[in-house]
Amino acid sequence: MRIVRTISEIRMALKTLREGGHRIGFVPTMGYLHEGHAALIKQSTARCNHTVVSVFVNPTQFGPKEDLAQYPRDLDRDQNLCLKLGVDILFLPETSEIFPTGFGTFVEPGSLGEVLCGKFRPGHFRGVATIVAKLFNIVQPDLAFFGQKDLQQIAVIRRMIRDLNMPVDIVAAPTVREADGLAMSSRNTYLNPEDRKRALCLQRGLLAADAAFHKGERKASKLAAIARKELSSADDVQYCQMVDAYTMEALDGEITRTAALCIAAIIGKTRLIDNVVLSPTDEGVQFINHLDPS
Ligand code: PAJ
Repeated sequence: MRIVRTISEIRMALKTLREGGHRIGFVPTMGYLHEGHAALIKQSTARCNHTVVSVFVNPTQFGPKEDLAQYPRDLDRDQNLCLKLGVDILFLPETSEIFPTGFGTFVEPGSLGEVLCGKFRPGHFRGVATIVAKLFNIVQPDLAFFGQKDLQQIAVIRRMIRDLNMPVDIVAAPTVREADGLAMSSRNTYLNPEDRKRALCLQRGLLAADAAFHKGERKASKLAAIARKELSSADDVQYCQMVDAYTMEALDGEITRTAALCIAAIIGKTRLIDNVVLSPTDEGVQFINHLDPS
């Protein structure tokens, strides 16, 4: 595994590989890697000739009052995991390499970046779209892998590649969960033991809505209400909303196309998100739920 820290170095390393006609897979991350990241890396190594992983805690996607300074970091562990998983190139740029003095061009995701998480984290998806666009330009992957836990992030990136004609395909991978069902997240490390137990209410809400959906309930508002009932132990529920799984447009009538129930809740001082995709037909659905940990 090569560890590279500069854009010119990674460009050079990739040039040789690309000239061999090899398929490049890319997994962008902010590090503190867990099994969710590992699942994306495994998909990439299975489907591509070479896998690039980036670890970069992107300052532009954190709000001024958010956890940029405390965001957990463990580069040694990340490095060992990547090595074990057969990553070819680990890209570890410094902030100044990515955002040199005078940087001023951003990708603006528009209305898609303003709903759900975007409403509570203004500027977040502008920061995500900008860093992902930059990383795509640097790595120029054939396939890039993203987790379904961040469903709105996938929607924003899919729209960006369509709107800006970026030659990359996106693979959405199912959410990986802890043994008790909590969606894995680098931020779970902020939860104290009592909050950790309360955090399970998100998954309970999704399971309840999923069960009702499979028994035939199709009313979006009813399904959201079923999930919300389970969220009473959260300190705040920012949203518990049924949306179109691709456009993130709010749904309030009968569900006739692939929808997602998305939750963002505060447990203690930690903001957690989770979702379940609910599809009335199995046709063409690009999402898979693993609500029960396996
Ligand atoms: P990060 O939170 O490190 O996540 C990196 C990738 O791992 C994302 O695609 C995310 O959806 C995926 N992921 C996280 N938890 C997961 C889980 N439990 N199961 C499956 N996949 C999971 O998302 C980001 O970083 C950043 O916004 C980034 C895209 C790197 C841009 O800075």
